[in-house]
Amino acid sequence: MKNSWIHMHRGTVARQARVDVQDLNEEHVSRQGFFGPVAMLYHRQRPADPVRVEGPLAVRMSAVADLTRPDEDTTGGLPSPLFTNDTISVSLSVRSTPWPFLLRNVDADTLLFVHEGEGVIATEFGPLAYEPDDFILLPKGTTHRLMPDTETTMLVVESTNPISFTEHQQVGRHSPIDFGVIGIPEVEEYDWPDQDEWEVRLKSGTDVTSAFYAELPFDVIGWKGDYFPLKINARDVRPITSERLHLAPSSWALFESAGAMIIPFLPMKVVDDPAAEELPSRHRNLDTDELVLIQRLGGKPVNLLGHFPQAVTHGPTERAAYDAIREAGMQRLTNGLSIDTYQRLRPTDAFLDPTERSE
Ligand SMILES: [Fe+2]
Repeated sequence: MKNSWIHMHRGTVARQARVDVQDLNEEHVSRQGFFGPVAMLYHRQRPADPVRVEGPLAVRMSAVADLTRPDEDTTGGLPSPLFTNDTISVSLSVRSTPWPFLLRNVDADTLLFVHEGEGVIATEFGPLAYEPDDFILLPKGTTHRLMPDTETTMLVVESTNPISFTEHQQVGRHSPIDFGVIGIPEVEEYDWPDQDEWEVRLKSGTDVTSAFYAELPFDVIGWKGDYFPLKINARDVRPITSERLHLAPSSWALFESAGAMIIPFLPMKVVDDPAAEELPSRHRNLDTDELVLIQRLGGKPVNLLGHFPQAVTHGPTERAAYDAIREAGMQRLTNGLSIDTYQRLRPTDAFLDPTERSE
């Protein structure tokens, strides 16, 4: 799709979108996330949420606590996907004990986001200690073992399209992150107790093949190259902000693939120009599903997972929400992340009816 510079307007509109809109009610309708062709619709009333939805395309929100149960209780010891499309699956893992196996995803890059808990992801390159708000990227084919020290809840994103850092090319090489903050594995000999054999699970989608080895295959004494697991903590991301305009969330993208953007939501200064909108307008992303983990709002824990399907209008329904954020102080205390996918995400039964899960 090509960018068009042909912008037309009719009727009553704001001179500048999201600025000085006064009693107009904007709805932001756009293709390709916020990159493609766009229409701002100016409504008499703020576009409402439906009072009832019949069919699959609904905004859905669930408590993380209702979506998780210990991975140890599942047959395979791995969490069930909550959302999938042809290239991406998203799960929530809760685990307190080390995997008794090693895992290698043979199809997909795996991006973990540590919601709660501490421990180690042991990899064949060496261990990566983790803590809350760590992102851990395990490239396709990396053998690893989850070893929690405390009960750990993680969002697990698997993508058959490679995941890489988003390059915000026009803001310099040290923002929003300096690559000096990335953690990489140090070579280390694992001193785990001997076992008769070691199981390496080869994961392909939800299919698992178990290969058994006589010796622990983690005996790497050195590694080099441009293909390795890594971690970065959200606190080391310094989000791009504007005091005069609400920026599209893609400004904060940290990782991306051909199928998705992964966007951390971090505490940041609010838009303090009183003429400018602090929050996004009501919006209708025509090509993007948003799967949002909201950990804290206003600094208070909420722990929700929400799904906003493409072409379904959502966003703040009350102007009071804008004022409340400004009055609360000059920090917008939101923590979480959004996984924005360019192909529809299908909620699974594990999301729609977690109490009925068989696995
Ligand atoms: Fe949205």
